[in-house]
Amino acid sequence: MALLTSLYNLIQAVRGTNPTFLTEQHVPSANLKGKWIVITGSNNGVGFEAAKSFAAWGANLILACREPPTWELHPAAAAKECKDLAEAQGHESTVEWWEIDMADLGSVEAFARRWLDSDRALDILCNNAGIAAPARPNEKPRLTKDGFQLLHQVNLLSHVLLTLRLLPSLARAPQPRIICTTSCVHHLGTLDLAHFDCGPGMVGSDYQNNKLYFQMWVAELQSRFLKHPEYLHITVNGIHPGFVASGIWNMLKDDSGSANPVIGFFLRRLAITSQQGGFAITNAASNPVFGPDPRTQGIGEDVGRGGGKYINRIWEASARAECDDPEARSRVWSKLNEELHLEEKGLLNILGL
Ligand SMILES: NC(=O)c1ccc[n+]([C@@H]2O[C@H](COP(=O)([O-])OP(=O)(O)OC[C@H]3O[C@@H](n4cnc5c(N)ncnc54)[C@H](OP(=O)(O)O)[C@@H]3O)[C@@H](O)[C@H]2O)c1
Repeated sequence: MALLTSLYNLIQAVRGTNPTFLTEQHVPSANLKGKWIVITGSNNGVGFEAAKSFAAWGANLILACREPPTWELHPAAAAKECKDLAEAQGHESTVEWWEIDMADLGSVEAFARRWLDSDRALDILCNNAGIAAPARPNEKPRLTKDGFQLLHQVNLLSHVLLTLRLLPSLARAPQPRIICTTSCVHHLGTLDLAHFDCGPGMVGSDYQNNKLYFQMWVAELQSRFLKHPEYLHITVNGIHPGFVASGIWNMLKDDSGSANPVIGFFLRRLAITSQQGGFAITNAASNPVFGPDPRTQGIGEDVGRGGGKYINRIWEASARAECDDPEARSRVWSKLNEELHLEEKGLLNILGL
Protein backbone atom coordinates (compact mmCIF):
# COMPACT_ATOMS: atom_id res chain seq x y z
CA MET A 1 0.00 0.00 0.00
CA ALA A 2 2.79 2.41 0.99
CA LEU A 3 4.57 1.62 -2.27
CA LEU A 4 1.42 2.30 -4.29
CA THR A 5 0.89 5.61 -2.48
CA SER A 6 4.50 6.64 -3.18
CA LEU A 7 4.09 5.71 -6.82
CA TYR A 8 0.85 7.69 -7.04
CA ASN A 9 2.52 10.74 -5.46
CA LEU A 10 5.47 10.45 -7.84
CA ILE A 11 3.11 10.39 -10.84
CA GLN A 12 1.32 13.49 -9.51
CA ALA A 13 4.66 15.27 -9.10
CA VAL A 14 5.82 14.30 -12.60
CA ARG A 15 2.61 15.77 -14.01
CA GLY A 16 4.13 19.13 -13.03
CA THR A 17 6.61 18.82 -15.89
CA ASN A 18 3.84 19.08 -18.51
CA PRO A 19 5.52 21.41 -21.05
CA THR A 20 2.37 22.43 -22.99
CA PHE A 21 3.06 25.76 -24.65
CA LEU A 22 0.55 28.30 -23.34
CA THR A 23 -0.69 31.28 -25.30
CA GLU A 24 -3.15 34.13 -24.81
CA GLN A 25 -5.83 31.67 -25.84
CA HIS A 26 -5.22 29.69 -22.66
CA VAL A 27 -4.85 32.79 -20.47
CA PRO A 28 -6.59 35.77 -22.08
CA SER A 29 -5.84 39.34 -21.04
CA ALA A 30 -7.98 40.62 -18.21
CA ASN A 31 -9.03 44.14 -17.34
CA LEU A 32 -7.30 44.86 -14.02
CA LYS A 33 -7.62 48.63 -14.20
CA GLY A 34 -7.90 50.10 -10.72
CA LYS A 35 -6.92 46.85 -8.97
CA TRP A 36 -4.03 46.73 -6.52
CA ILE A 37 -1.62 43.81 -6.62
CA VAL A 38 1.29 42.94 -4.34
CA ILE A 39 3.65 40.29 -5.67
CA THR A 40 6.70 38.98 -3.85
CA GLY A 41 9.81 37.85 -5.70
CA SER A 42 8.87 39.86 -8.78
CA ASN A 43 12.23 41.14 -10.01
CA ASN A 44 13.06 37.75 -11.54
CA GLY A 45 11.65 34.49 -12.83
CA VAL A 46 7.95 33.70 -12.94
CA GLY A 47 7.07 36.55 -10.56
CA PHE A 48 8.59 39.15 -12.88
CA GLU A 49 6.81 37.67 -15.90
CA ALA A 50 3.48 37.71 -14.05
CA ALA A 51 4.13 41.30 -12.94
CA LYS A 52 4.71 42.34 -16.56
CA SER A 53 1.35 40.85 -17.59
CA PHE A 54 -0.44 42.47 -14.64
CA ALA A 55 1.11 45.82 -15.64
CA ALA A 56 0.02 45.42 -19.26
CA TRP A 57 -3.48 44.57 -17.99
CA GLY A 58 -3.67 47.91 -16.17
CA ALA A 59 -3.20 46.91 -12.51
CA ASN A 60 -1.48 49.04 -9.89
CA LEU A 61 1.49 47.02 -8.81
CA ILE A 62 3.77 46.80 -5.83
CA LEU A 63 6.80 44.65 -6.58
CA ALA A 64 7.75 43.30 -3.15
CA CYS A 65 11.46 42.53 -3.47
CA ARG A 66 14.68 42.62 -1.53
CA GLU A 67 17.83 44.53 -2.44
CA PRO A 68 19.08 41.65 -4.56
CA PRO A 69 22.57 40.25 -5.04
CA THR A 70 24.42 42.25 -7.73
CA TRP A 71 23.99 39.57 -10.41
CA GLU A 72 20.16 39.66 -10.21
CA LEU A 73 17.94 42.19 -12.01
CA HIS A 74 17.38 45.10 -9.64
CA PRO A 75 13.71 45.67 -8.68
CA ALA A 76 13.99 49.31 -9.82
CA ALA A 77 14.76 48.05 -13.35
CA ALA A 78 11.97 45.47 -13.10
CA ALA A 79 9.49 48.16 -12.01
CA LYS A 80 10.61 50.43 -14.87
CA GLU A 81 10.01 47.62 -17.38
CA CYS A 82 6.52 47.01 -15.93
CA LYS A 83 5.74 50.74 -15.97
CA ASP A 84 6.82 51.00 -19.63
CA LEU A 85 4.56 48.07 -20.52
CA ALA A 86 1.65 49.69 -18.69
CA GLU A 87 2.20 53.01 -20.47
CA ALA A 88 2.49 51.30 -23.84
CA GLN A 89 -1.06 50.03 -23.24
CA GLY A 90 -2.23 53.52 -22.25
CA HIS A 91 -2.44 52.83 -18.49
CA GLU A 92 -1.53 55.50 -15.97
CA SER A 93 -1.25 52.98 -13.19
CA THR A 94 1.10 53.02 -10.22
CA VAL A 95 4.04 50.63 -10.43
CA GLU A 96 6.53 50.73 -7.55
CA TRP A 97 8.96 48.41 -5.86
CA TRP A 98 8.95 48.24 -2.09
CA GLU A 99 11.62 46.52 -0.10
CA ILE A 100 10.85 43.27 1.68
CA ASP A 101 13.43 40.73 2.75
CA MET A 102 11.66 37.43 3.26
CA ALA A 103 14.61 36.25 5.35
CA ASP A 104 13.82 38.92 7.96
CA LEU A 105 10.47 38.92 9.80
CA GLY A 106 11.07 42.57 10.82
CA SER A 107 11.26 43.51 7.15
CA VAL A 108 7.98 41.66 6.45
CA GLU A 109 6.33 43.53 9.32
CA ALA A 110 7.66 46.87 8.02
CA PHE A 111 6.37 46.12 4.51
CA ALA A 112 2.94 45.21 5.88
CA ARG A 113 2.79 48.38 8.00
CA ARG A 114 3.70 50.47 4.98
CA TRP A 115 0.93 48.84 2.97
CA LEU A 116 -1.68 49.16 5.72
CA ASP A 117 -0.70 52.82 6.21
CA SER A 118 -1.53 53.42 2.54
CA ASP A 119 -5.13 52.61 3.51
CA ARG A 120 -5.85 50.82 0.25
CA ALA A 121 -7.87 47.68 -0.36
CA LEU A 122 -5.68 44.90 -1.70
CA ASP A 123 -7.22 42.94 -4.57
CA ILE A 124 -4.54 40.34 -5.25
CA LEU A 125 -1.66 39.10 -3.13
CA CYS A 126 0.86 36.81 -4.86
CA ASN A 127 3.05 34.94 -2.39
CA ASN A 128 5.71 33.93 -4.88
CA ALA A 129 9.27 34.56 -3.64
CA GLY A 130 11.23 31.41 -3.02
CA ILE A 131 14.57 29.69 -2.97
CA ALA A 132 15.35 26.10 -3.88
CA ALA A 133 18.01 25.14 -1.41
CA PRO A 134 18.97 26.37 2.02
CA ALA A 135 22.63 26.04 1.17
CA ARG A 136 24.99 25.00 -1.59
CA PRO A 137 25.92 21.31 -1.67
CA ASN A 138 28.15 20.38 1.28
CA GLU A 139 27.22 23.58 3.10
CA LYS A 140 25.17 23.57 6.29
CA PRO A 141 21.67 25.05 6.03
CA ARG A 142 21.84 28.72 6.91
CA LEU A 143 19.91 30.30 9.78
CA THR A 144 18.22 33.67 9.45
CA LYS A 145 18.60 36.32 12.11
CA ASP A 146 15.19 35.20 13.38
CA GLY A 147 16.70 31.77 14.02
CA PHE A 148 14.93 29.76 11.31
CA GLN A 149 16.33 27.80 8.40
CA LEU A 150 16.58 30.21 5.48
CA LEU A 151 14.39 28.20 3.10
CA HIS A 152 11.70 27.63 5.73
CA GLN A 153 11.45 31.32 6.48
CA VAL A 154 11.72 32.71 2.92
CA ASN A 155 9.34 30.22 1.31
CA LEU A 156 6.78 29.71 4.06
CA LEU A 157 6.95 31.64 7.34
CA SER A 158 7.29 35.09 5.81
CA HIS A 159 4.41 34.49 3.44
CA VAL A 160 2.17 33.30 6.27
CA LEU A 161 3.01 36.40 8.29
CA LEU A 162 2.59 38.73 5.31
CA THR A 163 -0.80 37.25 4.40
CA LEU A 164 -2.21 37.44 7.91
CA ARG A 165 -0.98 41.02 8.35
CA LEU A 166 -2.57 42.05 5.03
CA LEU A 167 -5.89 40.27 5.64
CA PRO A 168 -7.80 43.35 6.80
CA SER A 169 -6.78 45.12 3.59
CA LEU A 170 -7.65 42.09 1.43
CA ALA A 171 -11.03 41.85 3.15
CA ARG A 172 -11.89 45.35 1.91
CA ALA A 173 -11.59 44.32 -1.76
CA PRO A 174 -14.75 43.07 -3.50
CA GLN A 175 -13.28 39.77 -4.77
CA PRO A 176 -9.81 39.36 -3.27
CA ARG A 177 -7.52 36.54 -4.30
CA ILE A 178 -4.37 35.16 -2.74
CA ILE A 179 -2.11 33.09 -4.96
CA CYS A 180 0.65 31.04 -3.35
CA THR A 181 3.41 29.59 -5.49
CA THR A 182 3.76 26.10 -4.10
CA SER A 183 5.08 23.33 -6.34
CA CYS A 184 4.31 19.95 -7.87
CA VAL A 185 7.01 18.51 -5.62
CA HIS A 186 4.74 19.08 -2.61
CA HIS A 187 3.53 15.62 -3.69
CA LEU A 188 6.94 14.26 -2.68
CA GLY A 189 7.01 15.98 0.71
CA THR A 190 6.66 14.42 4.13
CA LEU A 191 4.57 15.82 6.94
CA ASP A 192 7.33 15.78 9.51
CA LEU A 193 6.40 18.18 12.28
CA ALA A 194 9.41 17.12 14.36
CA HIS A 195 11.55 18.71 11.64
CA PHE A 196 9.08 21.41 10.62
CA ASP A 197 11.85 23.99 10.49
CA CYS A 198 13.62 21.77 7.91
CA GLY A 199 16.55 21.45 10.25
CA PRO A 200 19.99 20.00 9.68
CA GLY A 201 19.93 16.54 8.19
CA MET A 202 16.86 17.35 6.15
CA VAL A 203 18.56 19.13 3.27
CA GLY A 204 17.44 16.78 0.48
CA SER A 205 13.77 17.04 1.38
CA ASP A 206 13.58 20.58 2.76
CA TYR A 207 12.05 22.07 -0.33
CA GLN A 208 9.32 19.53 -0.99
CA ASN A 209 8.35 19.25 2.70
CA ASN A 210 8.12 23.00 2.93
CA LYS A 211 5.97 23.23 -0.21
CA LEU A 212 3.71 20.52 1.21
CA TYR A 213 3.19 22.61 4.37
CA PHE A 214 2.49 25.66 2.19
CA GLN A 215 -0.14 23.83 0.12
CA MET A 216 -1.73 22.43 3.31
CA TRP A 217 -1.81 25.92 4.79
CA VAL A 218 -3.56 27.21 1.64
CA ALA A 219 -6.32 24.61 2.11
CA GLU A 220 -6.60 25.31 5.83
CA LEU A 221 -6.71 29.08 5.35
CA GLN A 222 -9.53 28.78 2.82
CA SER A 223 -11.50 26.50 5.12
CA ARG A 224 -11.13 29.07 7.94
CA PHE A 225 -12.19 31.91 5.63
CA LEU A 226 -15.37 29.99 4.84
CA LYS A 227 -16.33 30.02 8.52
CA HIS A 228 -15.78 33.73 8.91
CA PRO A 229 -18.28 36.24 7.44
CA GLU A 230 -15.64 38.96 7.13
CA TYR A 231 -13.22 36.80 5.11
CA LEU A 232 -15.65 34.47 3.38
CA HIS A 233 -15.22 36.26 0.06
CA ILE A 234 -11.42 35.80 -0.09
CA THR A 235 -10.15 33.04 -2.38
CA VAL A 236 -6.74 31.47 -1.82
CA ASN A 237 -5.13 28.93 -4.14
CA GLY A 238 -1.75 27.24 -4.54
CA ILE A 239 -0.14 27.06 -7.97
CA HIS A 240 2.71 25.16 -9.56
CA PRO A 241 4.26 27.31 -12.31
CA GLY A 242 5.70 24.35 -14.23
CA PHE A 243 9.26 23.09 -14.40
CA VAL A 244 10.81 26.46 -15.18
CA ALA A 245 14.36 27.28 -16.26
CA SER A 246 14.58 30.26 -13.92
CA GLY A 247 17.39 31.57 -11.73
CA ILE A 248 16.20 29.41 -8.83
CA TRP A 249 18.38 26.56 -10.07
CA ASN A 250 21.56 28.65 -9.74
CA MET A 251 21.49 27.90 -6.03
CA LEU A 252 22.11 24.26 -6.77
CA LYS A 253 25.37 24.97 -8.59
CA ASP A 254 28.52 23.87 -6.83
CA ASP A 255 31.35 26.18 -5.78
CA SER A 256 32.92 26.04 -9.25
CA GLY A 257 29.64 27.31 -10.71
CA SER A 258 28.80 24.00 -12.42
CA ALA A 259 25.17 22.99 -12.49
CA ASN A 260 24.09 19.69 -10.99
CA PRO A 261 24.41 17.44 -14.09
CA VAL A 262 21.09 15.66 -13.52
CA ILE A 263 19.15 18.90 -13.08
CA GLY A 264 21.08 20.45 -16.00
CA PHE A 265 20.06 17.52 -18.23
CA PHE A 266 16.36 17.90 -17.38
CA LEU A 267 16.45 21.70 -17.55
CA ARG A 268 17.80 21.57 -21.12
CA ARG A 269 15.26 19.01 -22.29
CA LEU A 270 12.08 19.62 -20.34
CA ALA A 271 11.98 23.04 -18.73
CA ILE A 272 9.70 25.84 -19.84
CA THR A 273 10.60 29.55 -19.79
CA SER A 274 9.76 31.94 -16.97
CA GLN A 275 7.35 33.68 -19.32
CA GLN A 276 5.44 30.39 -19.63
CA GLY A 277 5.64 29.87 -15.87
CA GLY A 278 4.18 33.32 -15.21
CA PHE A 279 0.89 32.25 -16.81
CA ALA A 280 0.19 30.08 -13.76
CA ILE A 281 0.05 33.18 -11.55
CA THR A 282 -1.86 35.42 -13.95
CA ASN A 283 -4.37 32.66 -14.68
CA ALA A 284 -5.03 31.99 -10.98
CA ALA A 285 -5.44 35.74 -10.48
CA SER A 286 -7.85 36.36 -13.33
CA ASN A 287 -9.63 33.19 -14.46
CA PRO A 288 -13.24 33.22 -13.15
CA VAL A 289 -12.98 29.44 -12.68
CA PHE A 290 -10.38 29.99 -9.95
CA GLY A 291 -12.36 32.80 -8.38
CA PRO A 292 -14.97 32.65 -5.63
CA ASP A 293 -17.64 29.97 -5.64
CA PRO A 294 -21.00 31.80 -5.37
CA ARG A 295 -22.54 28.78 -3.61
CA THR A 296 -20.17 28.88 -0.64
CA GLN A 297 -18.74 32.40 -0.79
CA GLY A 298 -21.82 34.35 -1.78
CA ILE A 299 -20.07 36.20 -4.65
CA GLY A 300 -18.52 35.42 -8.01
CA GLU A 301 -19.47 33.92 -11.31
CA ASP A 302 -21.36 30.64 -11.71
CA VAL A 303 -18.21 28.90 -13.00
CA GLY A 304 -16.22 29.86 -9.86
CA ARG A 305 -14.88 26.84 -7.99
CA GLY A 306 -13.57 28.64 -4.92
CA GLY A 307 -10.22 28.20 -3.30
CA GLY A 308 -8.05 25.90 -1.25
CA LYS A 309 -7.03 24.23 -4.49
CA TYR A 310 -3.82 23.13 -6.12
CA ILE A 311 -3.43 24.33 -9.70
CA ASN A 312 -0.82 22.63 -11.86
CA ARG A 313 0.13 25.45 -14.26
CA ILE A 314 -3.39 26.42 -15.38
CA TRP A 315 -5.20 23.18 -14.65
CA GLU A 316 -6.81 22.20 -11.36
CA ALA A 317 -5.15 19.04 -10.07
CA SER A 318 -5.20 16.81 -7.01
CA ALA A 319 -3.17 18.02 -4.07
CA ARG A 320 -1.45 15.61 -1.71
CA ALA A 321 -3.93 13.71 0.46
CA GLU A 322 -2.82 15.61 3.60
CA CYS A 323 -4.24 18.81 2.09
CA ASP A 324 -7.72 17.28 2.41
CA ASP A 325 -7.14 16.13 5.98
CA PRO A 326 -8.43 18.79 8.41
CA GLU A 327 -6.65 17.21 11.36
CA ALA A 328 -3.24 17.18 9.60
CA ARG A 329 -3.81 20.71 8.33
CA SER A 330 -4.63 22.03 11.76
CA ARG A 331 -1.38 20.53 13.10
CA VAL A 332 0.52 22.59 10.48
CA TRP A 333 -1.58 25.61 11.44
CA SER A 334 -0.65 25.15 15.14
CA LYS A 335 3.02 24.72 14.31
CA LEU A 336 3.01 27.98 12.36
CA ASN A 337 1.29 29.66 15.27
CA GLU A 338 3.98 28.32 17.59
CA GLU A 339 6.89 29.48 15.41
CA LEU A 340 5.49 32.88 14.47
CA HIS A 341 3.66 33.61 17.77
CA LEU A 342 0.62 34.45 15.69
CA GLU A 343 -1.82 34.32 18.58
CA GLU A 344 0.31 36.68 20.69
CA LYS A 345 0.50 39.06 17.75
CA GLY A 346 -3.31 39.03 17.52
CA LEU A 347 -3.14 37.52 14.05
CA LEU A 348 -5.35 34.56 14.74
CA ASN A 349 -7.88 36.67 16.58
CA ILE A 350 -8.60 38.54 13.35
CA LEU A 351 -9.72 35.23 11.95
CA GLY A 352 -11.96 34.80 14.97
CA LEU A 353 -10.00 31.72 16.01
N1 LIG B 1 11.50 27.18 -11.27
C1 LIG B 1 10.74 26.11 -11.05
O1 LIG B 1 10.87 25.07 -11.73
C2 LIG B 1 9.73 26.13 -9.95
C3 LIG B 1 8.88 25.01 -9.81
C4 LIG B 1 7.91 25.02 -8.80
C5 LIG B 1 7.79 26.11 -7.97
N2 LIG B 1 8.64 27.18 -8.12
C6 LIG B 1 8.47 28.31 -7.19
O2 LIG B 1 8.27 29.48 -7.96
C7 LIG B 1 8.61 30.63 -7.16
C8 LIG B 1 9.43 31.60 -8.00
O3 LIG B 1 10.64 30.97 -8.35
P1 LIG B 1 11.36 31.18 -9.77
O4 LIG B 1 11.44 29.85 -10.40
O5 LIG B 1 10.74 32.29 -10.51
O6 LIG B 1 12.84 31.53 -9.26
P2 LIG B 1 13.70 32.87 -9.30
O7 LIG B 1 13.84 33.37 -10.69
O8 LIG B 1 14.94 32.56 -8.55
O9 LIG B 1 12.81 33.91 -8.50
C9 LIG B 1 12.71 33.85 -7.10
C10 LIG B 1 12.33 35.21 -6.59
O10 LIG B 1 12.31 35.14 -5.15
C11 LIG B 1 13.08 36.22 -4.65
N3 LIG B 1 13.68 35.98 -3.35
C12 LIG B 1 14.56 35.04 -2.98
N4 LIG B 1 14.96 35.23 -1.70
C13 LIG B 1 14.30 36.35 -1.27
C14 LIG B 1 14.30 37.07 -0.05
N5 LIG B 1 15.05 36.71 1.01
N6 LIG B 1 13.51 38.16 0.05
C15 LIG B 1 12.76 38.57 -1.00
N7 LIG B 1 12.74 37.94 -2.20
C16 LIG B 1 13.50 36.83 -2.32
C17 LIG B 1 14.17 36.40 -5.70
O11 LIG B 1 14.76 37.67 -5.53
P3 LIG B 1 16.35 37.94 -5.83
O12 LIG B 1 16.44 38.31 -7.27
O13 LIG B 1 16.64 39.08 -4.92
O14 LIG B 1 17.08 36.69 -5.48
C18 LIG B 1 13.36 36.27 -6.98
O15 LIG B 1 12.70 37.46 -7.29
C19 LIG B 1 9.34 30.07 -5.94
O16 LIG B 1 8.46 30.07 -4.83
C20 LIG B 1 9.67 28.64 -6.34
O17 LIG B 1 9.77 27.81 -5.22
C21 LIG B 1 9.58 27.22 -9.11
